[in-house]
Amino acid sequence: MSAAYQSFLKEILIDESALQRRVAELGAEVSRDYAHRDGTLLLICILKGGVMFLTDLMRHISVPHEIDFLAVSSYGRGARASTGNVRIDMDLSAQVLGKHVLIVEDIIDSGHTLRFVMDVMAARQPASLGLCTLLDKPSRRTIDIPVDYTGFQIEDKFVFGYGLDLDEKYRNLPFIGVVDLDKVHVE
Ligand code: IMP
Ligand code: MG
Repeated sequence: MSAAYQSFLKEILIDESALQRRVAELGAEVSRDYAHRDGTLLLICILKGGVMFLTDLMRHISVPHEIDFLAVSSYGRGARASTGNVRIDMDLSAQVLGKHVLIVEDIIDSGHTLRFVMDVMAARQPASLGLCTLLDKPSRRTIDIPVDYTGFQIEDKFVFGYGLDLDEKYRNLPFIGVVDLDKVHVE
């Protein structure tokens, strides 16, 4: 194979069928948990990394729900660690007040990004506030974040694909791959 990512793909950590199976399970869990709650379920996708996960997950959520998007950035292009300096690049268009909000995120690493997002959302007074992450790197956590739904716990490796980027690219890949950091240069 001569795909552009082959030179730095160390291994495929989670293949497409394993991802799809797990996302379907998470969707079923969310459906079960929210089926009997009064009020609107609002899924908030954290851009850009959460976009593939959201669009697959929502297909498996049988409860009527709204979606919205929040773009945040935690570190600059090329860097591989969160700075703790998180800001909103694009805010929601939906009202949060009184809704059951479920944050949909690609990965929790240090926890800085999610701490910021959860605090901002809590201040807008939702009926409830939950967190669903596809990936979790618990060994990297510096801020404690309670997670309601986790797709996969992974080791401390830099991963890409299925929404996650390597310098903004390769979000389209249908699998989660491990980056061989010796083979990529930081721009
Ligand atoms: P945190 O603020 O350290 O928890 O970082 C969370 C954000 O960093 C995620 O939303 C991702 O955008 C990014 N991130 C963390 N680990 C990885 C990775 O292994 N690959 C790609 N992006 C990552
Ligand atoms: Mg990123």
